Amino acid sequence: MPSRKKRQAHWNATYKDTPTNQLGWYEEAPGPSLDLITECDLPTSARILDAGSGATTLIDALIDRGYADLVAVDISEVALQRLQARLAPEEDAPVQWIVGDLTDPDTLASVDPVDVWHDRAVLHFLTDAADRAAYVQSLRSVVKPGGYVIIAAFALDGATRCSGLDVRNYDASMISNLLGPDFEMEQSLNHTYHQPSGAPRPYVYTRFRRVNAAADPA
Ligand SMILES: C[S@@+](CC[C@H](N)C(=O)[O-])C[C@H]1O[C@@H](n2cnc3c(N)ncnc32)[C@H](O)[C@@H]1O
Repeated sequence: MPSRKKRQAHWNATYKDTPTNQLGWYEEAPGPSLDLITECDLPTSARILDAGSGATTLIDALIDRGYADLVAVDISEVALQRLQARLAPEEDAPVQWIVGDLTDPDTLASVDPVDVWHDRAVLHFLTDAADRAAYVQSLRSVVKPGGYVIIAAFALDGATRCSGLDVRNYDASMISNLLGPDFEMEQSLNHTYHQPSGAPRPYVYTRFRRVNAAADPA
């Protein structure tokens, strides 16, 4: 397992070195994520947590749509500072900012239960089984019963490395198996994202609902 410090240093350096719109995962419009969040059919008061936000345009898009209770979590404070600076004119941006590692059980301790957990391009970096188990534990600690989980990861025919790191490739059933029987899959789709360089990056997107009766304690 890479140490959390090394992981954080890697991502901070990545964001320091690269303008947001040149990042290999930059989306001008986060279409599939917004579509899947819309499918959850929640009011704009719903609490949405973006796991591994980076400098994503999803937060801007959700605020534009009136969502008023967002949580942005990332291991890189450089990334979150960049996102925060972009939103600066909206001084009252309705975002709880959390710098931390999603495999650390303390990272989400201050987060109230959420209606949606969204992750695009984060889970696939967890190549160690213990890290994946810790990630699922973090997710289980905050997703409400009846809440939704949206995860997008590199597809089985997708890239095997990103940002200089190895990744684990997924299909929908692998994500379902990782989450376990308390999460029922409602939707999955394949989507080919094109990097700023034009290179295709096939992803699998999944949307689950938490069907068990009780949330886990944090
Ligand atoms: C490929 S980027 C995707 C960023 C964003 N979700 C998007 O779609 O633009 C992966 C992000 O995950 C963050 N990250 C990687 N490992 C993490 C971890 N263990 N805990 C929290 N964030 C992590 C990185 O700092 C980076 O911002």
